[in-house]
Amino acid sequence: MLIDLPVKENIDLGNLPSHIAVIMDGNGRWAKQQGAMRIFGHHHGVKSVRDTVEGCVELGVKYLTLYTFSTENWNRPKLEVDGIMQLLVKTIAEEVPELHKNNVRVKTIGNLESLPASARKKMVDAIELTQNNTGLTLILALSYSGKWEIVQATKQIAEKVKKGELAVEQITEDTFSQFLATEDAPDVDLMIRTGGDHRISNYLLWQLAYAELYFMDDLFWPEFRKKDLFEAISAYQHRERRFGKTSEQLK
Ligand code: FPP
Repeated sequence: MLIDLPVKENIDLGNLPSHIAVIMDGNGRWAKQQGAMRIFGHHHGVKSVRDTVEGCVELGVKYLTLYTFSTENWNRPKLEVDGIMQLLVKTIAEEVPELHKNNVRVKTIGNLESLPASARKKMVDAIELTQNNTGLTLILALSYSGKWEIVQATKQIAEKVKKGELAVEQITEDTFSQFLATEDAPDVDLMIRTGGDHRISNYLLWQLAYAELYFMDDLFWPEFRKKDLFEAISAYQHRERRFGKTSEQLK
C-alpha cells in the first residue's frame, strides 16, 4: 500500500514545485521550551536548513527561498540580532564548500547594504563562487520584505521611464517581475511555514500570488526534517491548482 512506503517514494518527480519558499518560524519558542535562550533555537535551525537543502537537491527542486532575516527583524533586541548575524557568517563559511560540491547556486534577495560588513562579504563571496552552478538555486532572503522589494522595483521602472528607456505601455506583469529581486526565478509554487501562524509576514508578496500555502501547526523550525519537506511536497501534489479556471476546464 502507498501509505506504507517512505514519503519520498510517494513524490511524483514529474510534478515537483519549481520554487519552494519557506518561513522558518518558531526558533525562539522552541528554545524557550528547552529552557534556553532564543539564539539556541536559531543555532538548531541550521540543521533544519541543511536537511531542507539536501531534500531539494535529492529531488531536483530548482529554486528554494528561505526567509532568513526580515526587514522587521532589525527591531529585535540587539543581542539576538548580533547573534543571528554571527550565526549567518559562521554557517555560510561552513556550508558553502558542500553547497558548491553539490552544484548549488547561492543568491540573496534583500537590502544587503544593511548587513554588517562581515556578513555581506561572506554572502558576496558565496554568490561569486557558486554563480555558474546549475543545480538548486538557494535564495536567502536577508534584510528582506515584500513591500520593500516592490517599492525598489517601482523606483527602477520610474527611473527608466523618466530617462526614456522604457515606455509606460511596456510595463507588463512580465517586465515588472524582471525588476524584482528574484529576477529569473519563477513564481513560488509551494510556501511552507512552520510554527503555527497562518500569515505570510511581508514575504514574496508578488511571487506568492498563486502559491499553495502549507502551514505546519505543530512543528517549530528546529524540528523540521527532510521527511516534513517530502510530506509538504506530497500534499502540494494532491492540491488542484486551478489558477482561476474551473475543475472541468483542467480535465
Ligand atoms: C524565526 O523564528 C527565525 C529567524 C528570524 C531566524 C532564522 C535563521 C536561521 C534558522 C539561521 C539560518 C541560517 C542560514 C544560513 C539560512 P522566531 O525567532 O521568530 O521564532 P518565534 O516565532 O518562536 O519567536
